[in-house]
Amino acid sequence: SPSSAAAPAPTTSGATTATGIDPGSIAKYVLKMPVLPHQRPRRVSFTTDYYRMTMAEAYKEVIPGFQTKVNTFNGSFPGPVIDAWSGRRVVIEQTNKLDVPTSVHLHGAHVPSSSDGGPMDLIAPGGGTKTYTYPNEQTHANLWFHDHAHHIESETVYRGLTGTYILRDQVEARLGLPSGKYDIPISVRDARFDADGQLHFEMDDFFNRQVVLANGKAWPYFEVAARKYRFRIYNTANLRSFQFALGDGSPFTLIGTDGGLLAEPYVTTSVLLSPGERADIVVDFSRYPVGTELELRNVITQAPGTPPDVNQVLQFRVTRTERDHSVVPAKLRTLPALRPATVERSFSLLMDESSQEPAWAYINGKEYDPDRIDTTIDYGTTEIWTVTNDNKIAPHNFHIHLVMFRVLERGGVPVTEGAETGLKDTVFLRAGETVKLQATFTGYRGVYLYHCHLFDHASMGMMAQMQVV
Ligand code: C2O
Ligand code: CU
Repeated sequence: SPSSAAAPAPTTSGATTATGIDPGSIAKYVLKMPVLPHQRPRRVSFTTDYYRMTMAEAYKEVIPGFQTKVNTFNGSFPGPVIDAWSGRRVVIEQTNKLDVPTSVHLHGAHVPSSSDGGPMDLIAPGGGTKTYTYPNEQTHANLWFHDHAHHIESETVYRGLTGTYILRDQVEARLGLPSGKYDIPISVRDARFDADGQLHFEMDDFFNRQVVLANGKAWPYFEVAARKYRFRIYNTANLRSFQFALGDGSPFTLIGTDGGLLAEPYVTTSVLLSPGERADIVVDFSRYPVGTELELRNVITQAPGTPPDVNQVLQFRVTRTERDHSVVPAKLRTLPALRPATVERSFSLLMDESSQEPAWAYINGKEYDPDRIDTTIDYGTTEIWTVTNDNKIAPHNFHIHLVMFRVLERGGVPVTEGAETGLKDTVFLRAGETVKLQATFTGYRGVYLYHCHLFDHASMGMMAQMQVV
């Protein structure tokens, strides 16, 4: 039975190809998916939780039988979970023991520009520190943190500089959703390994990154009880989008996305996440007998010739029955009303796809320049942004710092149901697609970024700045 047996000995055959370890030779479902460690504050005051974190390298078993050098926050790959409460401040002192500069951005958070982790606001390598203050003056949300140092974040993130930050509030806590050890964040990404089991990084190397990692392990398994679980799935990949589905095609319940809960639960058989996006789902395993093995799969349409491995993510094993008092209420929250918009703008995303290694990536015809303000916004304004992916093949997405937005339309069609009805900070754009977004620019004044969240594209220049004045 899968319940009692310890994981079999690592069996990666080590078969290699010109691009490193053959993903097909890596034994699947032998490593256990870890529950990410929850970081404890080092000090707690009446208003504030104080944390200390160190970015440093470490060796981890990411694929069976190898020790892989990775980047960590506090020794964890991916980084630990910060549990924050709306209305309570979090202060994190970050120390950079890597040999490259870093900048820690809290993705989806409304924070003063001085704590936003901008691309030029760097922490020196070899022991530099910076203290970030997060006011948490926003409602519950599935946030995360990652490096944003200009031009190099694609590699530092790829090597592991990401972490989870769950912001809770009373509205959410009252609902009775699965909680505690039944509320599991899962960070999913892809990677490529050299023959010696080390992470291989090349810019825009999408097709060769065919090993899928969940919470830092290649194709792990995860033991569950036959009851409801809440999984907060984060796509932390540099370039790959995943469309998550259960192996038997059965439905699950999408309860939230980037900016927290949807207004109502949405029953679906799959959810699509481009890099940076989050899905908060409830899976009810009570319909499965103990002993069931069930995959979490990636059902996105792959380019012809892509090996099947990227369609597998992890395996759930139902190992026991357990009582379940959790519920998914029919009404989850009231989303803020849309204010009338007074400003409209358009943004075009385009990168060179003529060569194998794109040389440039633009927003509105320009590469990111830290000395240029691309968009000036009056504080408090509600704006509609029309964003178009002008590429013929390449997908992009669009992330705005400082605010949560609403997706009004996709391809000219109003968004009325599903994952894009909630509060979002990142939105997917297939080649040729257009979305219409609405946001109200409040919270803080200052300079903030908007960019494609395919990290390699952002590193190549698909990034711009707005100043809220
Ligand atoms: Cu998660 Cu500017 O990004
Ligand atoms: Cu892009």
